[in-house]
Amino acid sequence: MTASHPASPQTTDRDIEVGPTDWNAQEYYYLMTALVVPRPIGWISTISAAGVSNVAPYSFFNMMGSDPPYVAFASTGIKDSLRNLREVPQFVVNVVTMHVLEQMNFTSTDFPRDESEFGWAGLTAAPAAKVKPFRVGEARAHIECEVKQIITDHNTNIILGRIVHTHVDKAVWKDGRVDPRLLDPVCRLSGSGYANLGELVNVARPFWKEVQGSQGLERMPKAVKR
Ligand SMILES: Cc1cc2nc3c(=O)[nH]c(=O)nc-3n(C[C@H](O)[C@H](O)[C@H](O)COP(=O)(O)O)c2cc1C
Repeated sequence: MTASHPASPQTTDRDIEVGPTDWNAQEYYYLMTALVVPRPIGWISTISAAGVSNVAPYSFFNMMGSDPPYVAFASTGIKDSLRNLREVPQFVVNVVTMHVLEQMNFTSTDFPRDESEFGWAGLTAAPAAKVKPFRVGEARAHIECEVKQIITDHNTNIILGRIVHTHVDKAVWKDGRVDPRLLDPVCRLSGSGYANLGELVNVARPFWKEVQGSQGLERMPKAVKR
């Protein structure tokens, strides 16, 4: 199918149909990062062989499985985090919450490799339980990982990390779980846009044994405000 528009239009009276090479890479990046939203942010701390600590945000990030548990994030090009991981293949995902939004953003500055973002952003380097890189002491939860694999396709480098340990601040724990309101995670939109959690709802998980024998939608679980 040919692209509906030769470049990203300001406004349009037709739907957009476009493949990854039809527009320039930057325009396609803006399109995709506006569609895959909200994204969690992995605030990734690493350490170089020389012992310089690094922390930087990555929103090409998510949990990638649970048995065993994995996370993945992607570096566009070779950045200091990836250089460090090639030397010391361990990292900490510092969970980004609204109270550290500005500091997280500040650590995305292109600091030279021998400068630590911890110092520049006034962050506490706290020892991790199972890996060498430091935790961001101000973060409310930390996921410690060992690099299992790095997949490279041109400028996309996908880092697969196997989770080896998790820490959760007692302040965000309620009724046997992490309470999303107490955690207050940052949701990344496109560009410099962010959001916090809006209205929370629950929708029960459907099972065939309850759905079978019905007309279908009558057994579809309804969203209920929390
Ligand atoms: C919220 C946010 C999310 C980002 N996500 C990514 C990402 O997923 N991949 C990437 O390569 N850069 C991403 N960046 C840009 C990097 O954080 C930036 O290039 C940083 O300098 C990399 O640091 P490093 O060289 O210490 O690894 C993001 C920036 C911000 C503010």
